[in-house]
Amino acid sequence: MFSDRIPSDLRHNRLAETLADLKRANQPILDLTASNPTRAGISYARDLLTPLADPRGLVYAPEPLGLREARQAVAADFARRGLPVTEEQIALTASTSEAYSLLFKLLCAPGDEILIPRPSYPLFDHLSRLDAVSAVPYELEYHAKWSVDVASLERGFTARTRAVLLVSPNNPTGQFIDPSEMAAIAELCREHDAAVISDEVFADYALASPGAPSGRLLGDVGVVGFTLGGLSKSIGLPQVKLAWIVLSGPADSVADARARLELASDTYLSVSTPIQLAAAELLERGAGVRQQIQTRVRDNYRTLHARAGEVPSCELLHAEGGWYGVLRVPSIVAEEDLVVTLLAEDRVLVHPGYFFDFPHESFLIVSLLPPAEQFLDGVSRILSRFDHVSDRP
Ligand SMILES: Cc1ncc(COP(=O)(O)O)c(C=O)c1O
Repeated sequence: MFSDRIPSDLRHNRLAETLADLKRANQPILDLTASNPTRAGISYARDLLTPLADPRGLVYAPEPLGLREARQAVAADFARRGLPVTEEQIALTASTSEAYSLLFKLLCAPGDEILIPRPSYPLFDHLSRLDAVSAVPYELEYHAKWSVDVASLERGFTARTRAVLLVSPNNPTGQFIDPSEMAAIAELCREHDAAVISDEVFADYALASPGAPSGRLLGDVGVVGFTLGGLSKSIGLPQVKLAWIVLSGPADSVADARARLELASDTYLSVSTPIQLAAAELLERGAGVRQQIQTRVRDNYRTLHARAGEVPSCELLHAEGGWYGVLRVPSIVAEEDLVVTLLAEDRVLVHPGYFFDFPHESFLIVSLLPPAEQFLDGVSRILSRFDHVSDRP
């Protein structure tokens, strides 16, 4: 009866089962996978969401790509980051995940291919599969810093490739795409008549201050591009559901893409009117939340750097931005056994590298979002497992 867009095996993995057991037994754990800013001890003004009560929201007058005033508010937010865009370039969606789904519909017939980075965000497998698109990985490599293996990207192109997806800074490896990588990717896309989808949801979260000015697709006028962002990360409000796509590239192609996206968006009209009317004020009021998250992730990254530096068998991989840290640890047991043991015995929840498709073991991924003391406690519990291991990973 059911399609294979949704996997038939929906059983939980061992880590999720162990977690469920501990929760049932009311056992406290330190959750270093937490990436929900609304439950991370960030303070939100109690009246932050009052702009959602604008009485104009009582009237329904939908615009498929979003109300002009909301698109203007998003354009103003790009101007804050020094990136000039017009409201005509913007399409609103309820989330970045929904933006992906619309773009896959815009660009791909069933069975067409998109190139996705590896390691990266695990949701891409589901997002592509749900839209009957085939996700083909290209490799990222680490030599003191992460970079795109452009040769592997080039090898990935086929007659069915419709887009290259990049994440800048990437989740979880944390590198911004640099201008020379962007130029190489754009060149390959032009050659193969493919688009670039640039997920920049973490663009505001450079781990060093001032942040890297690189890592942005906007500005390359030669390739059809779609830049993604949203309130979920930019002001820590995943629950209010507003995200955006910025179209860029040759004017004719952008106009064509816009007209087609308009039809697709008109079919769903999923962005609520109250959030669109509140967008300008929320983007302004949310700056304080963003600053708290920036401080949190930078402080925790510094803590992680210092603590990992004390354990010779472990290494913190260099990250430039985002909400995650990647620890390379000795492969004393399989990654899955390691994370299950850390949870069951040390009561620390972390993600294993294989969740993100790291090419080999052993890596642990920690969220930089938890409150500082919990973060330090969790990291110390993890690292103490490797205190007496002499080999460098
Ligand atoms: C790289 C990346 N893109 C998109 C998203 C999802 O954003 P949204 O809540 O807007 O769907 C996430 C969430 O963690 C993410 O890590």
